[in-house]
Amino acid sequence: ASYDMGGHDTYMHKEISEQADAVDRVLRGRIDDKFSTVHLGGLNLDAREARGIRRVKILGCGTSYHAGMIGAGLIEGMARIPADAEPASEFRYRNPVVDPDTLYIAVSQSGETYDVLAAVQELKRKGARVLGVVNVVGSAIAREADGGVYVHAGPEVCVVSTKCFTNTVVAFALLALHLGRIRDLSVADGKRIIEGLRRLPDQISEILKLEDEIKELAAEYAGAKSMMFIGRVRGYPVALEASLKLKEISYIHAEAYPASELKHGPLALIEPALPTVAIVPNDSLLEKNRAALEEIKARSGRILAVAHQEQEKADHTIVVPKNEDELDPILMGIPLQLFAYHTALAMGRDIDKPRNLAKSVTVE
Ligand code: AGP
Repeated sequence: ASYDMGGHDTYMHKEISEQADAVDRVLRGRIDDKFSTVHLGGLNLDAREARGIRRVKILGCGTSYHAGMIGAGLIEGMARIPADAEPASEFRYRNPVVDPDTLYIAVSQSGETYDVLAAVQELKRKGARVLGVVNVVGSAIAREADGGVYVHAGPEVCVVSTKCFTNTVVAFALLALHLGRIRDLSVADGKRIIEGLRRLPDQISEILKLEDEIKELAAEYAGAKSMMFIGRVRGYPVALEASLKLKEISYIHAEAYPASELKHGPLALIEPALPTVAIVPNDSLLEKNRAALEEIKARSGRILAVAHQEQEKADHTIVVPKNEDELDPILMGIPLQLFAYHTALAMGRDIDKPRNLAKSVTVE
């Protein structure tokens, strides 16, 4: 695909910059204020069926898998259905138990990723119900699924996914809200989430204004050989995705760990030459996250925090606007897209076409 870069130097920059509009699009026409829920026309799942779901299993690859991890947290949190995400390829090869009361959800930007498509086909052959959370309308996975939610991110050209990740997580928030309101989520909580969703586009625009500050930070970290990314619970998939972005376009080695796992091994790596990026939301885990920052500081590790307020133990804090706790992961990943972008730019990388990668992997 080729289309106008609209004054940007790369598709990645264009796509990062489009996210406020993209999120607006995934919300448009779907919110029902009267019942504090959302309408998802293509779901093909009535309320009785939705009440019968006992588990949710989300399948995807790469960035879509990370979006699915956040999606699982949203569904479990709002709809109180046990939910988890797994790489589609792993799922397919371990001969999983396919259960009729489980709702399977396939996640894909392109809708053509072979590992995901093959998992969907195998599931359908075994009689499972499979929904798609897909960006490209009419793609193979969208056609194969029993129903689903379109992500409406618009065309994404850069090999690394940015705006589609954000929109996919928002699509999962809509699905979680929908399932939640059929089950036990209160009207008040439904309203709270809807108000939070409506705040997202403006908050994304606020974050994008931090680009100059993030560019300066990226110049400082561009010399690192390796970086550590940490987060806890909702913040962990954000750390995973941010580390993948950095790896893909800058070729700097990066690892993501749950902050709570540091002491079980990776703390041994911490030294001044290995910077840590920490996701530190103002939620019930704030003190726990701060304790992890202290442990890193005690080993002379450099820390870049993404947080809702300045973090004393961090060398730098990127302060982002606060939303509802459930929706914070959507916002906290965005400055780190810009961080990966400017790090790669400072290193002279070919950002839209990183070596060894293709936009969609349609073979095994
Ligand atoms: C994203 O930055 C990647 N290049 C890659 O991990 C991608 O997310 C993965 O291949 C899945 O693609 P899909 O969403 O089109 O299925």
